[in-house]
Amino acid sequence: MAPSHDAVNRGVRVAHAPGRVNLIGEHTDYNGLPVFPMALNREVRITYRPRGDGQVLLRNAEERFAPIGFDIGPDIPAETGGTWGNYVRAAAQILAREAGITRGIEGSVLSTVPVAAGLSSSSALVVATALALLDANDIALEPTRLMDLLARGERYVGVQGGGMDQAISLGGRAGHALRIDFRPTLRLTPVPVPPGWRFVVAESGVEAAKASGAREGYNSRVRECREALELFSARWLQGAPCTDYAELARRIAPEEALALAEESLTGIHLMRFRHVVSEGQRVDEAEAAMRAGDAGTFGRLMRASHASLRDDYEVSSAELNRLVATAEGAGALGARLTGAGFGGCTVALALADTAEQVRT
Ligand code: GLA
Repeated sequence: MAPSHDAVNRGVRVAHAPGRVNLIGEHTDYNGLPVFPMALNREVRITYRPRGDGQVLLRNAEERFAPIGFDIGPDIPAETGGTWGNYVRAAAQILAREAGITRGIEGSVLSTVPVAAGLSSSSALVVATALALLDANDIALEPTRLMDLLARGERYVGVQGGGMDQAISLGGRAGHALRIDFRPTLRLTPVPVPPGWRFVVAESGVEAAKASGAREGYNSRVRECREALELFSARWLQGAPCTDYAELARRIAPEEALALAEESLTGIHLMRFRHVVSEGQRVDEAEAAMRAGDAGTFGRLMRASHASLRDDYEVSSAELNRLVATAEGAGALGARLTGAGFGGCTVALALADTAEQVRT
């Protein structure tokens, strides 16, 4: 569902932004390679009134989340710990710095996206906040500029994330998956989901709280991918080292890069490199399979993606592996963890006639 903000009576307005499920292309975005998510019909919804001053005052419909209040400015102090309010501050700070917002909002936040489940409730909150604040300040930004700005802005919470979640939340389209390329510039390509395909999402029940526990696990992988690329460039490439894996793919074919990596990298660097390069290839193949209505190939690619995330990227868990096996045992063509991993959800592909069996 596309986000929108619509005025309703008595000055109360609503901004909303959906969560997402990533079909394939995991941990590729911050490496410059594409992703292939779908927006969900679950969303974060902010009901608000613009304020005359620069304060942001928000309550959360979930009682375990305390109300927040702060002043808009270019350097907003973060709350310690993994609080939801830091995602609101993230949006406010980047928009104060780069879009010149000064006026705040007051209201309440309701999320129908499960929290810390790998379905991007946090980026949906950042996007919904941004839409509310831009509206309150009468500022319109071009969508791809806003996607890029919010991806950078969300790093406020301390996770060195890529741009997938903000882009799909703003750019998702009903009935379509969205291929998102980040290089040379942000580009969105909607691909219709074939009529008989069903994607079934299952929660492992283990929280994937990126703002706390999983943060270091995520950031260390960002670092390891960069190191692997530096080592590879130093050994095999003349001239300037590659800035990211998209540039690597332009300079050398993925199959050849994988073969050379086996000769020169070891341990964690080889494992991370192998995941990123092969996952980038799988996005291309998955897009082609979806366009051709080839569910068998799409499922096989999802299985390969999960194995790579489990063995080379080391972001799966016993619960996620069990859910994947259960879905495949029930007739899914393929299943994988979705999102950052470290807990969260799985996604499985089933055809309409077996989807019910996979779901239960
Ligand atoms: C999180 C990040 C995304 C992406 C995924 C893993 O959701 O916010 O940018 O890196 O993990 O694919």
